[in-house]
Amino acid sequence: MADLEKRLEETGVPDGHCGIGHTRWATHGAPSDTNSHPHRSGRVTVVHNGIIENYSELRAELEAQGRVFLSDTDTECVSHMIDSLYKGDPIDAIYSALEQFRGSYALGILFDDRPDTLYAVRRDSPLIVGLGEGENYIASDIPAILSRTTKYYLLETNELAVLDANGVQIYDSYRRPIEKEVFVANWDVSAAEKGGYDHFMLKEIHEQPDALRRTIQPRLAGGIEEIFRKEMPNVSDIKRIYIVACGSAMHAGMVGKHAIEKLAGVPVQVEVASEFRYQTLLFQKGDAVLLISQSGETADTLAALRIAKSCGVPTIAIVNVVGSSIAREADMVLYTWAGPEIAVATTKAYTCQVAVLLMLALRLAAARGISHAELERLAAALDSVPEVVEGLIARADEFKALAENYKDCSDLFFIGRGYDCALCWEASIKLKEVSYIHSEAYAAGELKHGTISLITDGYPVVGIATSDAHYEKTISNVEEVRARGARVMLICTEGTASKNVAHDLIEIPKVDEFIRPIAAILPLQIFAYHAACARGCDVDKPKNLAKSVTVE
Ligand code: BG6
Repeated sequence: MADLEKRLEETGVPDGHCGIGHTRWATHGAPSDTNSHPHRSGRVTVVHNGIIENYSELRAELEAQGRVFLSDTDTECVSHMIDSLYKGDPIDAIYSALEQFRGSYALGILFDDRPDTLYAVRRDSPLIVGLGEGENYIASDIPAILSRTTKYYLLETNELAVLDANGVQIYDSYRRPIEKEVFVANWDVSAAEKGGYDHFMLKEIHEQPDALRRTIQPRLAGGIEEIFRKEMPNVSDIKRIYIVACGSAMHAGMVGKHAIEKLAGVPVQVEVASEFRYQTLLFQKGDAVLLISQSGETADTLAALRIAKSCGVPTIAIVNVVGSSIAREADMVLYTWAGPEIAVATTKAYTCQVAVLLMLALRLAAARGISHAELERLAAALDSVPEVVEGLIARADEFKALAENYKDCSDLFFIGRGYDCALCWEASIKLKEVSYIHSEAYAAGELKHGTISLITDGYPVVGIATSDAHYEKTISNVEEVRARGARVMLICTEGTASKNVAHDLIEIPKVDEFIRPIAAILPLQIFAYHAACARGCDVDKPKNLAKSVTVE
């Protein structure tokens, strides 16, 4: 879209006040002009988020009717199908076409002979209808319309929206006009702007103290036994938790596992959503499935939620976007209040997810009789998180300087034990997704079983050793890689590292171990950000990535 805007500045904006555009995360065919959206076939023009799974057979049918395809995409089947069924009534043509499609879609549709009207319909892929003054919009997510309006409709599957400048009419899947609730986003316009920062990612790193304050403090205010009481009235019947998510959300779950098992004695299994949904699921009485998703629209996580529900298992969702699909379909929702997160690489949503998981651990522990004094200590530690994070952000230049030392690396290991290993996973993906430096998270004790053969002179290894219980063992692993020439950066709590244990040292405050996972990821977020900047990368929109992947 940014390139299109630039092109229009050069060529001049064509007449008209109704249009569609889409930067599609490539799913079929190489990114190219012919494969880019919108697609136009005959009298119909379409943008599409999602995947039409039976596009090959539809394409064969349509080509047999003499239709000529120009692209490699599944979406072109949509424009051709609707055009082939269009006899003058757009609504009829759209509904008839939808019956042919298998898969997911959020569609924006224009008809040549109705230049002032926009049609929109969805199945599984996110789509909202923005309500402005004398103008109306469709978008995948709220930030896209925030600069125009905060009022919007949420469309249900196969509800059709017909928009023009004067208003919006919604039809249900039986083509009956219906009234919809108007939602009002509680995000202000500045949320979708950089606010003076060079990048959204940097802005969102700096927003973490406030995001964490909004997420933690209202929950602690009522006392530990009241944490999530409204969302989860009864937790004592939870005997096992499956945490299911993708990407950084899954890494937050890995941290949550340690806290919940250690404090509450409830077994936790962390699963990648795209694997979970194809496993033999052996649910038992007392199981619960906890889904974590910033966007609340990730297709794999949404599919996992639906499978859990179809098995009759209680579902809990940790979500950042109010009213998103996962938030609406889960039995219970524990919101992170991070505010809109625009950068593809999550930072504030991740730390807020960890904070919610730590609070959930507290609530489960309280239900299982952990001592009140212990609970109070842990709650006080949680309460201090925003200031601890503020203190680390204030040291950003220290971490930026370190990024300079590693910006030209091509490969890098992150090693740790226990929850430090979970932090390695998040630190590794943060660095990879924004700076394109390949890195790998490894259980520190595992290196010697094969991977240590990769260590050569100067090979960069980041050791994360903030856990008291595992510090010595991780330092032994650091020594092992140093003995083979590695250049080591060590993250540990202040005062623990002996001199010269590492080439580069990041000491975090010796805060309660309960909240160290949140503290320790801050330097690594800032490190990844500055490595990406030093390499001239597109920090907020890394190549090939999307903020929320709504296809499988
Ligand atoms: C990726 C994002 O596409 O999806 C990550 O770049 C995110 O930041 C992952 O962790 C899961 O997305 P969500 O919205 O389900 O948390």
